[in-house]
Amino acid sequence: MPKERTLVLIKPDGVMKRIIGEIFSRFEKKGLRIAAVKMLSVSIETAERHYSVHKGKPFYGDLIDYITSGPVIAMVLEGNGAIAVVRKMIGSTDGSKAEPGTIRGDFAMSVNFNTVHASDSVESANYEIPIFFTEKEILDYEMPDKDFV
Ligand code: RTP
Ligand code: MG
Repeated sequence: MPKERTLVLIKPDGVMKRIIGEIFSRFEKKGLRIAAVKMLSVSIETAERHYSVHKGKPFYGDLIDYITSGPVIAMVLEGNGAIAVVRKMIGSTDGSKAEPGTIRGDFAMSVNFNTVHASDSVESANYEIPIFFTEKEILDYEMPDKDFV
């Protein structure tokens, strides 16, 4: 698998559930490299850019209200096939249906408050990452175990 970068957000409910550390821990232990991290309040403009594919859908207004309602952790994770790996780790969109063992399966009970976001394709990663990070904020360091992951 080619090396990929993906955008992950811990949504406001994830911060309120006090599981930031748990979520980072899962990604670190899996072998993904954390290339960038920040905590921010998402502006309405940023939320609308990030979720532009959903504009016009019935849940769009609630989605924008929710992601702008409290602190969010944004990160860029890197690894071979990282986009599909992270999607698998977060589980399906509706927390009440997501498999146990996935982040949503373990920590979310609904589709509205589903704790995390992750890019779903190379195209969406390329679109989403620059919304949250400048090129300079994404660090290109090497992990000491890079030959084993
Ligand atoms: P995400 O973009 O947040 O990683 O989630 P996803 O790919 O699994 O789901 P997506 O279809 O992209 O939907 C984006 C977010 O919109 C909310 N949603 N609500 N009420 C509904 O039917 C509904 N459908 C989607 C969820 O918060 C979802 O994460
Ligand atoms: Mg999505």
